[in-house]
Amino acid sequence: MTMAAVSRQWLAVLAGAGILACARGTQAKSDSSSDIPRLHKQGTTTRLVVDGKPFVILGGELHNSSASSLAYLEPIWPRMVALNLNTVLAVVSWELLEPEEGKFDFALVDGLLEGARKHHLRLVLLWFGSWKNGVSSYVPGWVKRDVARLARMQPRAAENAEVLTPLSDANCRADAQAFAALMRHLKEVDGTRRTVLMVQVENEVGLLGASRDHCPLAEAAFAKEVPTELMSYFQERRDSLIPEFEKYWEATGYKTTGTWTEVFGEGADEAFMAWHMARYLGRVTAAGKAEYPLPMYANAWLVQNEGQKAGQYPSGGPVSKVLDVWRAAAPEIDFLAPDIYLPDFKAVCASYTRSGNPLFIPESSAGPERAFYAIGQHEAIGFCPFAIDSLPADHPLKDSYQVLAELMPVIIENQGAGRMRGLLRYKEDSEQVDLAGYRLEVSYRSEGKTSSYGLVIATGPDEFLVAGSGVGIHFSARTPGPRHTRILSVDEGRFKEGRWVPGRRMNGDEDAGGWHLQLPGGPPTIQRIKLYRHD
Ligand code: DGJ
Repeated sequence: MTMAAVSRQWLAVLAGAGILACARGTQAKSDSSSDIPRLHKQGTTTRLVVDGKPFVILGGELHNSSASSLAYLEPIWPRMVALNLNTVLAVVSWELLEPEEGKFDFALVDGLLEGARKHHLRLVLLWFGSWKNGVSSYVPGWVKRDVARLARMQPRAAENAEVLTPLSDANCRADAQAFAALMRHLKEVDGTRRTVLMVQVENEVGLLGASRDHCPLAEAAFAKEVPTELMSYFQERRDSLIPEFEKYWEATGYKTTGTWTEVFGEGADEAFMAWHMARYLGRVTAAGKAEYPLPMYANAWLVQNEGQKAGQYPSGGPVSKVLDVWRAAAPEIDFLAPDIYLPDFKAVCASYTRSGNPLFIPESSAGPERAFYAIGQHEAIGFCPFAIDSLPADHPLKDSYQVLAELMPVIIENQGAGRMRGLLRYKEDSEQVDLAGYRLEVSYRSEGKTSSYGLVIATGPDEFLVAGSGVGIHFSARTPGPRHTRILSVDEGRFKEGRWVPGRRMNGDEDAGGWHLQLPGGPPTIQRIKLYRHD
């Protein structure tokens, strides 16, 4: 077959997989002015669509207190631009939004929008309402003081913690009203400009210090039967439930009715807390979406090690083992998102792509390798290191985001079709990856503290784009045909305004004499490899 014929065949494959259609659809959609940010399923992936086009968040989350002062933020905005972010995650707190009950102050929100727009940045707002990191420190003073009306959790009976209970209808209504006011205002001031892309509802919720709330409302609910909605969800998905939690149900003989303890045994406290936390957040989310239906998610403080019990991490929070409980309780919440400070980034990402959950990382340590991996391997909606305002303007994230931004049209074109992989060294120095009919023998080569990472995209027949740092890849074809796979050419290059501009031809020492592609260590680079086969 001639190269032209092969290319035609590849185009037909793309069209069959809906990829060209998607690119055209994207173009058509971008003309629509009524499109607010939304999630859209594309093949195997879920994408954020902004102004009618797929959008991947190359973000960063500000420190908790930064967005409480517009003057403090002033010098931060240009640093976000210098780091090549496209989106900033910033807090909107209940205490500053509704300092007096029923009286709202939107000055900070408006200032945030103005600052972001001036710097051509988008925002994800973090609603610090009833809970932030397992406590209620961001509720307004009038909520803090009114313990009689707005009930608290009791880790031990008759002992109020400084934390709202999710069992109280009054608590939920008060939070939902404030959140609805925020979303109503956002629709008014941002419904056309669409600076705000998504909203995080609360922050790292759950109960610390005990596995279950023992306040009177909680005690009464815990004695009741498990809600039928939860039981139906579990019964319908019995073959695909998350095993780390399913084991508790299995141990009680998959009981379909009964109290929390009868049905979930040792997992009862956490299931109960997860259900009530999720119901509460679901109601707050629904109230907000009724005003302005942006995508909304909840984030998780993760289980730190296998030995930890619920309560040592926030019990009832959306940790990966209870994703099914959360999804059953709160379908209004679009997805659940991990805050990843743990070293095994790959494992956490994998655990949050189960039960149909798309991956978004609102908080992480700042390794640039994590961005490449999440976007390459899991087609993440976005990646956002925490404390972004503490990073120096020349942090390695800057180069990573630059390269990812250049690659973005190719990344987007190839999403949802199984043609991308993320590469990241963790413990092992090598791994095998199968992609587009090829086996990739990946060797991680960086030394010392730097990481080896990258992403690889099958861009055509016998052609791949590879980007990253400190990675070697030997390719061998796995499909029927000539036995030997060889390198036709390797070019280093960059994308300028969406166009591939080749740089060095990588030959000799730079591709190990035609044996493998090798990305040097240091700042990430891009190479395009073409292969051929012979007997
Ligand atoms: C996780 C929280 O969600 C953030 O708001 C912040 O407090 C960080 N921890 C601090 O490391």
